[in-house]
Amino acid sequence: MSSNAVLLDVKNVSISFGGNTALSDVEFSVKKGEIRAIIGPNGAGKTSMLNCISGFYRPQKGQILFKQTDLTQTPTHKIAPLGIARTFQNIALYTGLSTLDNLMAARHIHMKQSSLSNMIYWGRAQREEVAHREFVEEIIDFLEIAHIRKAVVGALPYGLRKRVELGRALALEPTLLLLDEPMAGMNVEEKEDMARFILDIYERRGVTVVLIEHDMGLVMDISDRVVVLDFGRKIADGTPDEIKNDESVIQAYLGQA
Ligand SMILES: Nc1ncnc2c1ncn2[C@@H]1O[C@H](COP(=O)(O)OP(=O)(O)O)[C@@H](O)[C@H]1O
Ligand SMILES: [Mg+2]
Repeated sequence: MSSNAVLLDVKNVSISFGGNTALSDVEFSVKKGEIRAIIGPNGAGKTSMLNCISGFYRPQKGQILFKQTDLTQTPTHKIAPLGIARTFQNIALYTGLSTLDNLMAARHIHMKQSSLSNMIYWGRAQREEVAHREFVEEIIDFLEIAHIRKAVVGALPYGLRKRVELGRALALEPTLLLLDEPMAGMNVEEKEDMARFILDIYERRGVTVVLIEHDMGLVMDISDRVVVLDFGRKIADGTPDEIKNDESVIQAYLGQA
C-alpha cells in the first residue's frame, strides 16, 4: 500500500562513542506506508539508528529529515509530538497500571486542557476525555486486547505486555512508528499475531513502520524494503528478495555464526 512520498530521509548519519563507531555515513529513506526493516548482527548499530531518529542520540554528522524537519536539530521532547513513536528493546510500561490506563497516559500529549481549565471548563474537559477514551478503545479492539483492558500490566504474560506496549505507542497517534525487536522472546503464535498487527497498521491506522527484528523469516515475509547494517555501515538496501541473495549480507551473517 505504499505511495512514493518519502516520509523519513536519513542522510549520512555518523555517531561514535569514544573510539567506538556505532554508525558510519548511514543513509536510507522510508516511504509513506511501507514496512521498512533494519537488520544486522548484534552491535551493528540498529538501536543506535532508532535512537538518532527519536532524538535520544545526537549524531555527530548527517541529517534526518522527517517531512520538512531535521530531527537532528529538534529538541528531543518535540520529536514525539511531530508524530514519531517507538517501542523499546526492553519493555517500558507503567507496570502498576491497567492496560487501559497505560494507553490513556499516552493520550496526555494530545490533551489540551490543563488541570486549572479542567476545573473551570469541566464540561469541555469531560468531552475531551470521552474522545480520548474512544480513540484508545479503537486501539484496544485493533490489538485484540479487550479481555485485558482492566488487567494490571505487570501481571500479564510477556507476549501480551509487548502488545500493550505497541498499543501505547499507537495511542500517541504517530505517523511513524519505530519498533525495536517487537517479537524478541515471543513464541511462534505470539510472533504471528504481532506480524499480523504490524502488517495491518498502515491500512487500519495510517502508521508507517520502521522495524528492527532478528527473525529473518518474519522480516522477509512482512517488510517492503530492508536496510542491512554491519559494524555501523550500510552494506545492503533493497527488497527482501534482493537482500536474501546479496553476497555481502550472506557474508556478514556467516561471519557471525
Ligand atoms: N550509549 C552508548 N555508549 C557507548 N557505546 C554505545 C552506546 N550505544 C551504542 N553503543 C555502541 O554502539 C554499537 C552499536 O550498538 P547498538 O546500536 O545497540 O547495536 P544493535 O542494536 O545493532 O545490536 C555497539 O558497539 C555499542 O556498544
Ligand atoms: Mg539493538
